[in-house]
Amino acid sequence: IPVAPFVLTVFGATGDLSRRKLIPALFHRDLDGQIPDNAVIIGVSRRALTHEEFRAFAHQALVDHIPSGQLDGSPVEKFLARLLYVAADADAEPGWSDLASLVAAQGDMIPVYYLATAPALFGPICEKLGKHGLAEKGRVVIEKPIGKDLASAVALNEQVGRIFPEERVYRIDHYLGKETVQNLMALRFANALFEPLWNNGHIDHVQITVAEALGVEERAGYYDTAGALRDMVQNHMLQLLCLVAMEPPHSLDADAVRDEKLKVLRALKPIDEHNMASVTVRGQYRAGASAGGAVPGYLEELGSSRSQTETFVAVKAEVENWRWAGVPFYLRTGKRLASRVSEIVVAFRPVPHSVFGEAVGPLEANRLVIRLQPDEGVKLWLMIKDPGPGGIRLTHVPLDMSFAKAFKVRNPDAYERLILDVVRGNQTLFMRRDEVEAAWTWVDPILQAWRNAKEAPRPYTAGTWGPSASIALIERDGRTWLEDGA
Ligand code: BG6
Repeated sequence: IPVAPFVLTVFGATGDLSRRKLIPALFHRDLDGQIPDNAVIIGVSRRALTHEEFRAFAHQALVDHIPSGQLDGSPVEKFLARLLYVAADADAEPGWSDLASLVAAQGDMIPVYYLATAPALFGPICEKLGKHGLAEKGRVVIEKPIGKDLASAVALNEQVGRIFPEERVYRIDHYLGKETVQNLMALRFANALFEPLWNNGHIDHVQITVAEALGVEERAGYYDTAGALRDMVQNHMLQLLCLVAMEPPHSLDADAVRDEKLKVLRALKPIDEHNMASVTVRGQYRAGASAGGAVPGYLEELGSSRSQTETFVAVKAEVENWRWAGVPFYLRTGKRLASRVSEIVVAFRPVPHSVFGEAVGPLEANRLVIRLQPDEGVKLWLMIKDPGPGGIRLTHVPLDMSFAKAFKVRNPDAYERLILDVVRGNQTLFMRRDEVEAAWTWVDPILQAWRNAKEAPRPYTAGTWGPSASIALIERDGRTWLEDGA
């Protein structure tokens, strides 16, 4: 079903996010017939381009980012005809009244402003939108980094909030748009099996891994000012943790879900200089090998020998509430790790007593593994009897559901869902201001403790699972990291 007609203005339209994600996502939705015929997309950036030149840019983005085969025979021209372009600078007047006229000329459509720009421009762009009468009914979309600490996040939220009321601010965390992340809610709340066990009586611990094989590449300039804790944990990983740990919301109403996530964030046990050393590990990759080839270290990629920025972080987090007391949530994420894999492992407690005796081998505890990417799927590890006549021997096997095999449909990119949710006015998968600020409230003291400790990040070889201290972090508790759906 197509959404209501909209006019989407993308600031930073010739930038990386627009080229790699937004333009291909909009094209896919158009192809699936979900964009109304009269919807319009206006690109804005500082570059002087004609509408035609912007369409050529967008066409190239499609060629570069849509797998070969999917473009052939597609109505690309129909999509490109929706695109218009205005040159404008957040800090200067020219272009803004042209933009206002162009938006007005589209008639009564839902105005959406996507700020695919550096966060420093969010405030100035919102001000201009306000000044030119564009904010009145408009919705604004912003994306991380929303600040580099609590104070800067509050300042940024205030700048945007002066022009747009909270119910029209859409803070994207693209992890929330991933299919399997949404599936986490389906698994938990559309099945009677899990929820009764979803607590410290039955769950031993939870692991959340977001491992990337790539290095920082051309984003080193930004990344070096952020590091893995800000880049991945403050947002994506805490959001995943919230979806695992939250109480059932009364519905999927945006505030119902966000209220529950907020409670989890507020229940996180503080990490500061007192416990930082025993519950966090920072790492930075050195040269090594990835996908069979030699790859440089972080410092070489950055072109500086001095950076202390972490490209890996492992954290033992705890949610201090009735449901989760005593259940650690081990989080780890890093660049240049052994493979690209994101998954959540819910490790259940062992059975209280074995009726099988020693001879049948160890009884492994049940595990639910939710694989976010690649090969999206769900595995439930169970003990079963090894087939054969020779008495009972037990073995640990997964009930294994791969979404690609089960559904044989293209897995849509997170942005496809999220952009149209903005038009639908559905905020469920977007972060509310208080959530972002609560996440920073937890992250700030960790950053502060690291700064005070003045310790260099621990080196790890590219293509491995991170520094050995990360293994020690979990092994101290008598547990191990589980890799690749294990
Ligand atoms: C971004 C981070 O938010 O998420 C990147 O800034 C990271 O550093 C990316 O690579 C990972 O996203 P995905 O969808 O590829 O897992």
